[in-house]
Amino acid sequence: MSSHSNIIQSEDPSAVLRAAEVLGNGGVVAIPTETVYGLAAAIDNPASIEKVFAVKGRPTNHPLISHLSSVLQLHLWAKDVPTDAQLLANACWPGPLSVLLNKSDRLPLTVTGNRETAVFRVPANLFTRRLIDAINVPLAAPSANRFGRVSPTTAQHVIDDLGSEVDLIVDGGSCSIGVESTIVDFTSNPPQLLRPGGISQEDIELILGKRLSDQQGESRASGMLQSHYSPACKIHIANDLAHASELLIQLQTFGNKARIAQFSDNLPIYASTLYSQMRAADNEGFDSLIAIKPIATGLGQAILDRLLKASAPRF
Ligand code: TXA
Ligand code: MG
Repeated sequence: MSSHSNIIQSEDPSAVLRAAEVLGNGGVVAIPTETVYGLAAAIDNPASIEKVFAVKGRPTNHPLISHLSSVLQLHLWAKDVPTDAQLLANACWPGPLSVLLNKSDRLPLTVTGNRETAVFRVPANLFTRRLIDAINVPLAAPSANRFGRVSPTTAQHVIDDLGSEVDLIVDGGSCSIGVESTIVDFTSNPPQLLRPGGISQEDIELILGKRLSDQQGESRASGMLQSHYSPACKIHIANDLAHASELLIQLQTFGNKARIAQFSDNLPIYASTLYSQMRAADNEGFDSLIAIKPIATGLGQAILDRLLKASAPRF
């Protein structure tokens, strides 16, 4: 795979410099993070930002997450940061938490789809934070998949989806968490959980000493769309292994090529293999993948959310 000229290993001593050059020339770089791979542009380079939307096939009014290299940068790009948001960021960053805040005037509207609010996170991956330091501005990056598809958790997934349209793919191995970051909206009080993800609601509530409210009113994150995170095969959700076996027999009786996804009671393991299992089922020509429902607490909440979205009727 690394024979492609647009792929570099994240430990390669020249990786940061090469990625910074590509970004400076208006290109886009696929970056590893602990959650999923991102498709990155420097927030102050309009050509790169435009290319991110074009390569992903994403509507330009869908806002991008701004990735910072340190919690100390938050006040430069956000304003009116509530104490709770600062507390949570201090406790969780670097890590799989994203916060929605009012943006400062310095953050371009092209990044936020013309909104006065913006989502921020500090990713754990060292290469990616070094790259942000090297260019000295945040990296705007959505997940590096084609719009509406499953997020990539390996460099190979990025190649499969976007291939040569990406100027540089930085291979940092498999993403350790494997589902996207948790998004908490701090522009409302109490804060709202916009997207369950890599850090659990329970952990966040423990840190804040208060409950998060569910998402109210109109969907504000595109990840909230009913059908999102979809593989080509149909996802069926089973309550347990016995139920899954029943479904398998039914589907096979109708001539469906189906299989049961590997399930783990260990939620971090289940989360980290979920998207690659969906992609593998597609690659191997399966019509259906049967997934066993995890418990709905901890990381199970994010897994269940992605399963429900993947199994929803397609638009
Ligand atoms: O783990 C992650 O968060 C990954 C990695 C690459 O950091 N990124 C990611 O980005 O999942 P993306 O673009 O696929 O999902 C970000 C979500 C979208 O649903 C977007 O609509 C929402 O965040 N979002 C971003 N800015 C927003 C804003 N100002 N208001 C409401 N929603 C926003
Ligand atoms: Mg995405």
